[in-house]
Amino acid sequence: MNQTTKRGYYGEWGGAFIPEVLYETFRELNDAFAAAKADPAFWQEYVSLMGTYSCRPTPLTHAQNLSRHFGGGQIFIKREDLNHTGAHKANNVMGQGLLVKKMGKKRVIAETGAGQHGVATATMAAKFGFACTIYMGEEDVARQRPNVFWMEKLGATVVPVTSGSKTLKDAINEAFRDWVTRMDDTHYVMGTVCGPHPFPEMVAWFQSIIGKEARVQIIDQFGRLPSRVYACVGGGSNAMGVFQGFLDDAGVELIGVEAGGKGLDSGRHAARLAGRDASAGVAQGYKTMFLQNSDGQMTDTHSVAAGLDYVGVSPILTDLWQQGRVRFAAATDREVMAALDMTMKNEGIIPALESSHAFVQAFKEAGEMGSDEAIIINMSGRGDKDIFTIAHAFDDPSWKEFIRKKGKEYGA
Ligand SMILES: Cc1ncc(COP(=O)(O)O)c(C=O)c1O
Repeated sequence: MNQTTKRGYYGEWGGAFIPEVLYETFRELNDAFAAAKADPAFWQEYVSLMGTYSCRPTPLTHAQNLSRHFGGGQIFIKREDLNHTGAHKANNVMGQGLLVKKMGKKRVIAETGAGQHGVATATMAAKFGFACTIYMGEEDVARQRPNVFWMEKLGATVVPVTSGSKTLKDAINEAFRDWVTRMDDTHYVMGTVCGPHPFPEMVAWFQSIIGKEARVQIIDQFGRLPSRVYACVGGGSNAMGVFQGFLDDAGVELIGVEAGGKGLDSGRHAARLAGRDASAGVAQGYKTMFLQNSDGQMTDTHSVAAGLDYVGVSPILTDLWQQGRVRFAAATDREVMAALDMTMKNEGIIPALESSHAFVQAFKEAGEMGSDEAIIINMSGRGDKDIFTIAHAFDDPSWKEFIRKKGKEYGA
């Protein structure tokens, strides 16, 4: 990975803009992370935990039917959906859980957008015996009710956040407010490669397990490196995870796909680096390109995928974008539904709405490549969590009937 120049900066991006009361907590976290990174036994413990608890290494699937359909590059899918709890979020939370144990803390808090990170954190807390509180925008609570159900059943307290746009950025603000009041016993499990240093570096380190595996697997199965690697980008953790396996390979093009929502000209999207609406700013403890107005107020974002519906983006990715190392594209909600449909029908695989963004761009480009070339799509999570949103978007009549019947059963 590209090295931080000074204290958590990636080029001009990143940093640690934190209130003074958090200095001591961050010093402790920095020390614990530095010790873990320097200790090969820690990484071994992490890999072994992921192997016995979270089905790692996750497979790399050759999507033969889709490859044939597009008639170009061979499409391989890295199956992060097969992680325990159904997404790449598990990689990060289990790693941070090990760190929390080492720091001797007893309570974890987290923000969540789609709910995947919340479920993963609640799962980790149950396994390690930590108390757990999850902050989630009220809008996301409504969109992702099944995940809220599971977080609560796993023993976590879910706090709906009613401020601002009631989505991920507001949940992050609320989690920071909690942390300031309970630094002694609490660790904030940041869910993506954003926020103040050391979070971007630390989350990227845990997620690098994806790229490490994918690199070995593609050489094993295809005999050489892929030409392109695609990943969706919310905060950027699954993308950074898979990209790190190929960052030093100049011949491998890396493509991040953001939420194009209703279209880049509609003002209803979450494309920070693929669009023209974002500008440099400092918020939520770090400097990056934010979707904000000229007064620095964060603007409302939109995506069919709750996990991509965020105003900021990883400072590491912003730097790689500025250097021209990662290319950015956006996929609209409509394109996402079509790519999801095609993947289900051709491969029997149900990608999450977030992951489907990466499929859109890969499908647009696969046909222009030679059949002796390979591409990897990082499938960050599974789509069955999105059943309500997907059924609604497909306007599925039998599903509507089922919901009506259920409603009647509950006296609605
Ligand atoms: C399945 C899935 N993919 C992708 C994301 C986006 O996060 P990131 O960009 O950090 O990988 C999320 C976030 O909730 C998610 O649940």
